Amino acid sequence: MRRIPDIPVYLDYNATTPVAAEVVAAMAPFWMEQYHNPSSPYPEAARVRAAVEDARAAVAALLGAESDTIVFTSGGTESDHWALEAGVAFWRGTRRKVIASAVEHPAVTETLRWLESQGAEVVQVPTDEHGVIRLDILDQCLDPSTAMVSVMLANNEVGTRQPIEEVARRAHAVGALVHTDAAQAVGKIAVDVRALDVDLLTVVGHKFYAPKGIGALYIRRGLDLPAGLPGGGQEGGRRSGTENVPAIVGLGKAARLAATWLACGGPQTQAALRDELQARLTQAIPKSRILGEGAPRLGNTLALVLPGLIGMRVLQACTTLRAATGSACHSNESGGSKTLQSMGIPPEWAQGFIRLSLGRETTAAMMDRAAMSLISTIQTMYSEGE
Ligand SMILES: Cc1ncc(COP(=O)(O)O)c(C=O)c1O
Repeated sequence: MRRIPDIPVYLDYNATTPVAAEVVAAMAPFWMEQYHNPSSPYPEAARVRAAVEDARAAVAALLGAESDTIVFTSGGTESDHWALEAGVAFWRGTRRKVIASAVEHPAVTETLRWLESQGAEVVQVPTDEHGVIRLDILDQCLDPSTAMVSVMLANNEVGTRQPIEEVARRAHAVGALVHTDAAQAVGKIAVDVRALDVDLLTVVGHKFYAPKGIGALYIRRGLDLPAGLPGGGQEGGRRSGTENVPAIVGLGKAARLAATWLACGGPQTQAALRDELQARLTQAIPKSRILGEGAPRLGNTLALVLPGLIGMRVLQACTTLRAATGSACHSNESGGSKTLQSMGIPPEWAQGFIRLSLGRETTAAMMDRAAMSLISTIQTMYSEGE
């Protein structure tokens, strides 16, 4: 009898994705052949420059933006920090309030803490039980002293899609700038900066099959945002530093792959697989609770609470599966997720939190193996009274 190899099923795509083979191939010539500095004055460098601009056009197209609104960065943390810091500096002290949701990634919340230490007034708006920002409370916080509002497009832990269009409409009504951290949305759902009506948007390459350490910040045309990194004047003087050409080319290729996947019904197929797993889990484990299902959410994300169990222990026991007990950035923070707190999940339940996130290569067979092994692990742990 042929033995099926016991390769773990990777369901942690919200932490990171592999680099797509097409992306690796697109990057390959830019290590040893087309290694020239894009700013150099000879024809080889001009070709590298053209590759960087081609990647910029691809990222812009994925966001429904113009090429000159895309600035390459080292990833989500840099883009978020730049957007917030510069978004406040833009006002030169005339506006000092920054409003964010209570469920932002540490890349945003730690920057908020820093801004507060520099004299900004920081307000965090709670969410409802589905993880959706409370627009009524946002309304109470907004006033003409608001410099900037930053709300993520999709939450990394629960997958909730925030009503950014509504946030932007309200924030713009008081003249504030609007930033959205779209790290978990770009490449998973359609993202259109015009429809969202944001001024700034964070893109993270390794969440959609580009390498780690590359990302972008969308800056609305006409917005004179202070530069991210001063120096040699690359990226139109907005973000200095010799360009990470292979990674930029990879990001461009990943953007094109994402556009094709989105146009070919990828998200719908993924959501169907997720829904099937959700149905199997809730049927087999009646005590389990699904988070965020009462609001629009990413089709790849399944956030599960197992009251009475510890999520980390479940995942340690379920050796077939690679998943998370929350964001990879605070996976050792059992029960401490700010997202779950804001959703009103009691701490003793939050300890039993598991996040399963699917990727483009996740198949029905993988989901079947994941479901079987997770269900049997959880049932055993409940029966042993853990
Ligand atoms: C919502 C969100 N924002 C920002 C980041 C930070 O991205 P990076 O670690 O690539 O800087 C992540 C990564 O986990 C994220 O999920």
